[in-house]
Amino acid sequence: MCGIVAVIGSRAAAPLLLEGLKHLEYRGYDSAGLATISRSPHNGDGILQCQKTKGKLVNLSKKVQSQGAKGNIGVGHTRWATHGKPEEHNAHPHQDASGQIAVVQNGIIENHLALRESLESEGVTFNSETDTEVIPHLIAREIKVLQSNGLQNNGSTLLKAVQKTSQKLKGAYALAVIWEKTPESLVLASNQAPLLIGLGEGEFLCASDTPALAGFTKAILPMRDGEIALLNPLGIELYNSQGERQQRNPSLIHGNEQIADKRNFRHFMLKEIHEQPKTAKLWIARHLPAELPKHSPIALPFENDFYNDIKKIQILACGTSRHAALVGAYLLEQFAGISTSVYYASEFRYAAPPLEEKTLTIGVTQSGETADTLAALAMEKKRRNMHKNPAYISRQLGITNRANSSLARQVDNILDIGAGLEVGVAATKTFLGQLLAFYSLAIKFASINGNRSTEEIAKLSEELKAIPEQLTSLIKIHDELSENLAHKFSDTQDVIFLGRGINYPIALEGALKLKEISYIHAEGYPAGEMKHGPIALVDKKVPVVSIAIPGVVFEKVLSNAQEAKARDAQLIGVTTEGPESKIFDAILPIPKVSEWVSPLLSLIPMQLLSYHIAALRGLDVDQPRNLAKSVTVE
Ligand code: F6R
Repeated sequence: MCGIVAVIGSRAAAPLLLEGLKHLEYRGYDSAGLATISRSPHNGDGILQCQKTKGKLVNLSKKVQSQGAKGNIGVGHTRWATHGKPEEHNAHPHQDASGQIAVVQNGIIENHLALRESLESEGVTFNSETDTEVIPHLIAREIKVLQSNGLQNNGSTLLKAVQKTSQKLKGAYALAVIWEKTPESLVLASNQAPLLIGLGEGEFLCASDTPALAGFTKAILPMRDGEIALLNPLGIELYNSQGERQQRNPSLIHGNEQIADKRNFRHFMLKEIHEQPKTAKLWIARHLPAELPKHSPIALPFENDFYNDIKKIQILACGTSRHAALVGAYLLEQFAGISTSVYYASEFRYAAPPLEEKTLTIGVTQSGETADTLAALAMEKKRRNMHKNPAYISRQLGITNRANSSLARQVDNILDIGAGLEVGVAATKTFLGQLLAFYSLAIKFASINGNRSTEEIAKLSEELKAIPEQLTSLIKIHDELSENLAHKFSDTQDVIFLGRGINYPIALEGALKLKEISYIHAEGYPAGEMKHGPIALVDKKVPVVSIAIPGVVFEKVLSNAQEAKARDAQLIGVTTEGPESKIFDAILPIPKVSEWVSPLLSLIPMQLLSYHIAALRGLDVDQPRNLAKSVTVE
């Protein structure tokens, strides 16, 4: 799960590489590195220079500034460690024994151990514990063979060596390679991992994702699975896995990729929490326009036949997106009456359920790049489209915040949640955007299949329209309340979050937010499950946060909270103020709303409590340890 950039052209490469990497740091920040090739002033020979640092990109920038990095061609990398600790020697680029070849890679080489063993048996010494390092050594070996067959030191030789090498690699990967002997050639390879070539004037930049290219060019050529490209300042040669030359036109990056700006907030996460009323407002303007009839108030960008005849929905997602999917499933089943299942994408791809007819598969991923979600969707599409009965044909929808992502290129229909750039690794406003996407789908399906009356549909729509203002005042109140409460809990070791029904996924999300940014152990449970085991954890040192919203399961949740209190737990209620709220030691109040829309509000104290606890502990809220914004390996 790393970010790679590469450039070849007429300008100095290093500043472009560093700028590109800045926009890819969300993919990992364990280490960074770059390699460039300049020409010797004496004989014009290429000189490869490689620089790496442990930790964030800022360390690499300083190193490059002090040491300099010459040349108009280069490759760069920001790493999320998979194989080998986040140390400098494991940072990319990796080189062959002669130091003439430099490789950056995003992905996992699954057969690296066998390849390493065979290279070691030939006398190759490795400098890192990474899976990637086998690649430069294999390329060097192939180059030697090609040279012995009389091939020249030129771009075609490097291309052939990379083609031969990739035939030996197993796994999903994207890589960029330079070779000191060919300072005019950059070779790229992509296999089930994104790699985009940006076309500038007389120069090319290549990157794992569009933000790294947007300031440079709008014209991009996304590489397809198995493709290998040879770039020189004059042009691109693109080949498929059979070595056949490919021709196709570039596409354009949609809209403006936004620039990260923290404004006056201490962290991006806090800023993004505060942006949620705007996310909701924009969503309502786009999807709940006033002019639509009461029985069908939702505007979605799909033709009517998209909804026709859907009997079953299955949702594939990971992490926070899966929590949004669980709320979505509740709405689709309970409000729209459609049987819906949610799967961890990473499980589904290897253990999918038997096929059912007339099924819509929804992939939810804010980044649009999560490897497991993309692979699960691709696998599902393939097995459905192989089926002879048309009732099983694949129908897919992606819910994402990135209209330029791999997901958008992969599925037929996209619901862009339009929450704007989210920098904080902990998802906040994109979670809200995903929830809103599910509300619109539930209303749309209910209005089409008649599962709900016009009055019920109109009521839910009106309640949704009130959400932006409620969010604004709630964020204000809870920012202060959570900050105060955080002082009480900043030394806590374990926290339990309870919820039921439509708010059970919000309890899961509360626990995930807390553990990922504050490193406090937290668990989310359906409140009724506590007595089946987890209650053994409860004592006076374990705070229990209970989401208790008047509705179907209100009294049940209160009883479950009492059971924890009877075991000395400190009880925090995310609840409406009233006589029942007296059981709580502290409350994080929610206005009186229908249970249907309550998750859109109960998520706020979850986010702000986690934020303030992590900030108080002095942690890196926006870039928590071991995590990345986009999980591009399985
Ligand atoms: C948590 C978080 C992660 C992501 C997960 C899936 O705050 O952000 O759990 O939700 O990695 O990412 P996407 O939505 O990009 O597929």
